[in-house]
Amino acid sequence: MVNTVEKAQFEELRPGVKIPAKQTILTPRFYTTDFEAMAKMDISANEDELKAILEEFRADYNRHHFVRDEQFNQTWDNLDEDTRRLFIEFLERSCTAEFSGFLLYKELGRRLKNKSPLLAECFNLMSRDEARHAGFLNKAMSDFDMCLDLGFLTKNNKYTHFAPKFIFYATYLSEKIGYWRYITIYRHLEQHPENRIYPIFNFFENWCQDENRHGDFFDAIMKATPDILNDWKARLWCRFFLLSVFATMYLNDVQRADFYAALGLNAREYDKHVITETNKTAGRVFPVILDVETPEFYNRLEVCISNNEQLGQIAQSNQAAPLKLLRKLPFYLSNVWNLAKLYFINPIRVDNLAGTVK
Ligand SMILES: [Fe+2]
Ligand SMILES: [Fe+2]
Repeated sequence: MVNTVEKAQFEELRPGVKIPAKQTILTPRFYTTDFEAMAKMDISANEDELKAILEEFRADYNRHHFVRDEQFNQTWDNLDEDTRRLFIEFLERSCTAEFSGFLLYKELGRRLKNKSPLLAECFNLMSRDEARHAGFLNKAMSDFDMCLDLGFLTKNNKYTHFAPKFIFYATYLSEKIGYWRYITIYRHLEQHPENRIYPIFNFFENWCQDENRHGDFFDAIMKATPDILNDWKARLWCRFFLLSVFATMYLNDVQRADFYAALGLNAREYDKHVITETNKTAGRVFPVILDVETPEFYNRLEVCISNNEQLGQIAQSNQAAPLKLLRKLPFYLSNVWNLAKLYFINPIRVDNLAGTVK
């Protein structure tokens, strides 16, 4: 049954269709790139590996995986109002992130079709996977009487333009972190079946293998064009992308700790595990990784979290806008300062290990 009190928590575009969450620095982004430059890339140095990955994509191991079976045939009214709200937000964020991948890969597949057929086919097959993932999540939202209008998102979201190498750094990391996020939740719920509050988590084991393969594709493409990994600029940019991805996830998830608690997870411990593993994985291709073991790393992120809490409280007050801004300023400055200090923590060089088994 539709519960109007619960539904009223979200603004609707039209009945049952949620207005997408406002885009902020912490929400999933939509990307576009320089398609001409991507088409001209010479990938011959690692073509064999890319061909092998294409064969994996063609095999389509998850062809029959994303089917809503009888597990979904029940109501979820047992979830309390807060869990339900956090759940819808989780589904929305995940759906938006998956859909963002779909749009980018689909467009790349289309634009590279005649110029770089091997890459074009890989992108098309990855967009097939992301469409399934986004569709499955959107259908899950409808179990809570909400869904996203993906056509509306396509037209109304802002697109961030990145040169190809930045697309590779960013999508590689988002695929690999996606893998670690899904598999960590899956493994935890395997140990604690009493916390499986909704069947979508049962699909994460095979699902995350899609993300792992997508990440491997970007790993292979970067190795095909080693100049985007080998110089001092690459080292600075890899640090930047690692920090952005880790900090965004940590700040987002700790804010939503109640959601993870509903699954029996501690948001901080969960994120630390995901960050450690993704950082290690990134060392297989990036020339540097972050020192996430130094206490300074999480201490500074915690300062940003408390700054964001203060910023949230100020935003909710009834004061005049200029006064609010003045009160917010020190917290913004502290965030910038702490993120800059995080960026300058000595990284760990791993390129000297290239060619060895890690
Ligand atoms: Fe995906
Ligand atoms: Fe993916």
